[in-house]
Amino acid sequence: MATFDDLDRNEVLATIHAVQAEVPTAFTWDYDRTRPALGRLYEKAKHSQWNGSTDLDWSLDVDPEKVAAELGGGTVNRFEMLASHPDSPVRSFGTAEWTRVGVEMQNSLLSQFMHGEQGALLCTARIVETVPWIDAKYYASTQVMDEARHVEVFARYLQEKLGSQYGINDNLRVLLDDILSDDRWDVTYLGMQIMVEGLALAAFGFMHQMTTEPLLKQLLRYVMSDEARHVAFGVLSLQEYYANLSDAEILERQQFAFEAAVRMRDRFLQQEVWERMDVPVKEAIELVMRTPTRQLFQMMLFSKIVPNCKKLGLLDRNDKWLRHRFEEIGVIQFEDWVDTGSEYEAFALTDADQRTA
Ligand SMILES: [Fe+2]
Ligand SMILES: [Fe+2]
Repeated sequence: MATFDDLDRNEVLATIHAVQAEVPTAFTWDYDRTRPALGRLYEKAKHSQWNGSTDLDWSLDVDPEKVAAELGGGTVNRFEMLASHPDSPVRSFGTAEWTRVGVEMQNSLLSQFMHGEQGALLCTARIVETVPWIDAKYYASTQVMDEARHVEVFARYLQEKLGSQYGINDNLRVLLDDILSDDRWDVTYLGMQIMVEGLALAAFGFMHQMTTEPLLKQLLRYVMSDEARHVAFGVLSLQEYYANLSDAEILERQQFAFEAAVRMRDRFLQQEVWERMDVPVKEAIELVMRTPTRQLFQMMLFSKIVPNCKKLGLLDRNDKWLRHRFEEIGVIQFEDWVDTGSEYEAFALTDADQRTA
């Protein structure tokens, strides 16, 4: 049997990252459809498939500098402290350098989303195997197709329209590795559908609002309509399962959720951009973290995660363990925002979406 060790070593190093895992692949002989909410989601998914090759207008020309400027990647505002602080390593930056920061930030951000989409593809294929319920296996199989499409469209946008991409950020890689090396089926959901996809849904929403670039806007609109279902899949599945776990079991999940939250927050510091621009990373990051608009952006990324954790009962079990951690990182104020258990209806594509951006 061929293993990763048999592959050409250079090829492995260049393009393959293997995560070792031993997970129970679960058959179920119970074909009764006992989970109607998951059944409805599955029906919805079957009607909501789109084709990235033909539904998006790839003939459109894209100006990467304009996209970056609209998304605020390199604006001096967003890096206020970095632009003006006397100790800043980039105090001498002029318009040309800040434009380049914007383009690099943009390429890095979309590259990380592309890698995250591949993580979602692998995690959901895993869930098909490991989740013990037939309704969840059915639904997860549709998500596998959705995620393949998402990887495809982000990769194509980066290759054809932006012309540059970044390798995976260390924080994101460690998080995806942690999720994929865990043998508990619910932890795959918690890491991917609740944390990673909850963040992606919030981030795509902001990007969709801010960009006027028609292809990216259309791409994000289509992807969001799928992501809202995916997050709902996580909420609906785990709500049932977590209601029956012991306090000790829940504490492990609370800790996992918090570690994932910190990893994702740090991923958005985009160290890789400063590295590529030969700027001392540590000094740059310290100043970026102190910029108020930056802090606001980071907090908003948690606007879906916190209400969904609350709906799963994760905030307050074990003497409010996760609530206190979310208070410490300044994101608890989102707890009563709308959760994503049924919000996917609001994200569904309409005829108008499908005719124009
Ligand atoms: Fe996705
Ligand atoms: Fe997804």
